[in-house]
Amino acid sequence: MRRILSASLLRNICLLAGNLPSPASAAAGRHSWTLSLCRKSSGERTNMDLSDMRKKYKGDEECFEESQLVSLDPIKQFGNWFDEATKCPEVGEANAMCIATATKEGRPSARMVLLKGYSNEGFRFFTNYESRKGSELETNPHACLVFYWEPLNRQIRIEGSVERIPYQSSCDYFHSRPKSSQIGAVVSRQSTPVPNRDYLRQKNSELEEKYKDTEVPMPDYWGGYIVKPSLIEFWQGQTNRLHDRIVFTKLKDGESELGEFEHSAEGGWVYQRLSP
Ligand SMILES: Cc1cc2nc3c(=O)[nH]c(=O)nc-3n(C[C@H](O)[C@H](O)[C@H](O)COP(=O)(O)O)c2cc1C
Repeated sequence: MRRILSASLLRNICLLAGNLPSPASAAAGRHSWTLSLCRKSSGERTNMDLSDMRKKYKGDEECFEESQLVSLDPIKQFGNWFDEATKCPEVGEANAMCIATATKEGRPSARMVLLKGYSNEGFRFFTNYESRKGSELETNPHACLVFYWEPLNRQIRIEGSVERIPYQSSCDYFHSRPKSSQIGAVVSRQSTPVPNRDYLRQKNSELEEKYKDTEVPMPDYWGGYIVKPSLIEFWQGQTNRLHDRIVFTKLKDGESELGEFEHSAEGGWVYQRLSP
């Protein structure tokens, strides 16, 4: 009880201190002890109230209507938003995406990877086949990708089945990378524990020496995957929280009937608007 009380008291004190208008009143001494408590770096705090953290998205006049889809083919629509993201100077890495995988039992895990290509076939990325994501994909070949381009208030979610890309395509990409990245891929048995950083440094130097004058062979534990989409959702944020969500789903073989709010799209896709 005492711990709970003191934690909530501290929080209130911190909020109060956060609202102080100027350092001058702190200098007056009255609140200096609370400030010194609250000026701990956020790294030292274990209980943060972030309920006031929110930013403005787009106004209603900038909403995303069905009539603004550049195509009823969601891959082309993806291309349009992706191009806009790559042209937006505030988006640091437009092709960075979060990929979620899951174990056979359905325990999820997620991390960022880089999109390295897309087409009607799907979305490609490269990684270590023996990594955590690689092992999960071996037993449960389904994934979800999420792009979030914060300055554009846009998110795209893609769900689908996952396959390894052909060996030769992985090899071609592997050898197109800078030599240091190729060596990095050989050095790293991704997701396995190592004794320390020096261990990796040393392995890296040994391989640099070994492959000084020759091509680095692509390790058989490295390569690409393709996520073959069955769902692609386009989300655009609105300040009034009436966010736009237009979701395309792929019809299964033989399926043709549309749901109540579903519309036909192109290439075997249908789309509908979801409530935010
Ligand atoms: C922006 C960004 C891009 C990344 N790109 C890749 C990538 O393309 N491939 C990859 O294997 N890991 C990439 N990583 C590292 C992964 O997030 C992750 O640490 C690694 O793949 C191991 O994940 P796992 O243990 O869940 O398999 C990237 C990380 C960041 C932050």
